[in-house]
Amino acid sequence: MPKPDVPIELDRKFVEDPRAFYESLRHAPVQQVIMPPEAGAWLPPGRRVWLATSYSDARALLADSRLRKDNDRMMELYRARQAADTPERGFSSALEAHLLNLDPPDHTRLRKLVTQAFTRRTVERLRPRLEQVAAELLDDVEGAGTVDLLDAFASPLPIIAICELLGVPHADRARFRTWSGTIVRSADPAQLQDHSTALAAYLAELIEAKRAAPGEDLLSGLVHVTDAGDRLSEVELLSMAFLLLVAGHETTVNLIGNGVLILLRRPELLARLRQDPALIPGAIEEFLRFESPVHLATLRFTAEPVRVGEVEIPAGEFVLVSLLAANRDAARFPDPHECDITRPAGGHLAFGHGIHHCLGAPLARMEGEIALRALLGRFGNLELDAAPDSVRWQESVLTRGLDTLKVRVS
Ligand code: HEM
Repeated sequence: MPKPDVPIELDRKFVEDPRAFYESLRHAPVQQVIMPPEAGAWLPPGRRVWLATSYSDARALLADSRLRKDNDRMMELYRARQAADTPERGFSSALEAHLLNLDPPDHTRLRKLVTQAFTRRTVERLRPRLEQVAAELLDDVEGAGTVDLLDAFASPLPIIAICELLGVPHADRARFRTWSGTIVRSADPAQLQDHSTALAAYLAELIEAKRAAPGEDLLSGLVHVTDAGDRLSEVELLSMAFLLLVAGHETTVNLIGNGVLILLRRPELLARLRQDPALIPGAIEEFLRFESPVHLATLRFTAEPVRVGEVEIPAGEFVLVSLLAANRDAARFPDPHECDITRPAGGHLAFGHGIHHCLGAPLARMEGEIALRALLGRFGNLELDAAPDSVRWQESVLTRGLDTLKVRVS
């Protein structure tokens, strides 16, 4: 049985199958682990981290104000991982002030400003346009026989959605996909830096253009949004655009891909949804619970000692919360390894919890629903391709999603 005071060194096995590892921790819901080399830029490889896996601890920790983001310490971590001979400007200025790295009062101020521009109405206004985009993407799939649904549908839809919302031309979406894939998942600091610098430079230019000629989009809204005379600084604006663009699609691609794979593997669920499309929103919630697209919440630090059950985490330590493990906790969700699209899956932690709860959750849910309705409405036959390489999972310590999903459609 794992002991919380003896750190477990995570290795490739964890990267390949995090669920099996989380299950092995059910008796030690707060455990020290050492991050593997594949951890990437957002987690400290080789460093000790306290990992929480039960639903109740995860939820309590995410709402605990003694756990901080500490922007300065995060920036120090990034810089330590930075390739020595590459310029850092674009990289760090795009990260210096984004919501996920900030604590109150800065977080409160920025979140209020962006929430004002990111209303449910702004999101709902996108619905007809996204239905049209989904239909057009499926036009290209029709008659193809076998298709990689990730390339053809699950990936472009969320990229186009976030580009349209922000007012970013999506002709460049192939570049965005490469850039943000690297930014979220790459363990190579030089590559991470190159791609984030390129994205930051692109966005800085676009912000200038919006300042000169504002449109109806979110980025123009953010350039001009004010709250009692307060507005976003240059660095805050760039960081916000960067976060929205990356967070806005890497995750939602996974929701759509993971959901479709579940349905292909469980044809009776697919048939049920075809019969009764009103079940689709509930199915999306269950997919979020069952195969959480972001499986670890971002890093936090203890500002003072924090007791969790039997374990005391000292001050100044790194803490990670596993959303995937929490969402598969039998103490909260009976029969947690069963994907039951009619269960009340509300209360899952796939979008996090507390002050950093996902800003884009309404958009992600709407995109998931549009994608499933469009796909089921268009094809009477959807089957997983029989080739051995038809399903390939991403290698990622942070996210849970597919790289390839080959499907036969007719
Ligand atoms: C925060 C998941 C889609 C923007 C978060 C967090 C999670 C999450 C777990 C909290 C992380 C933490 O506390 O450490 C997801 C999932 C999505 C999704 C699973 C899709 C299925 C989106 C979309 C957008 C977005 C579409 C933007 C358009 C954000 C932002 C934050 C955030 C800005 C930071 C909020 C803050 O710190 O106050 N997301 N997200 N996300 N998400 Fe999402």
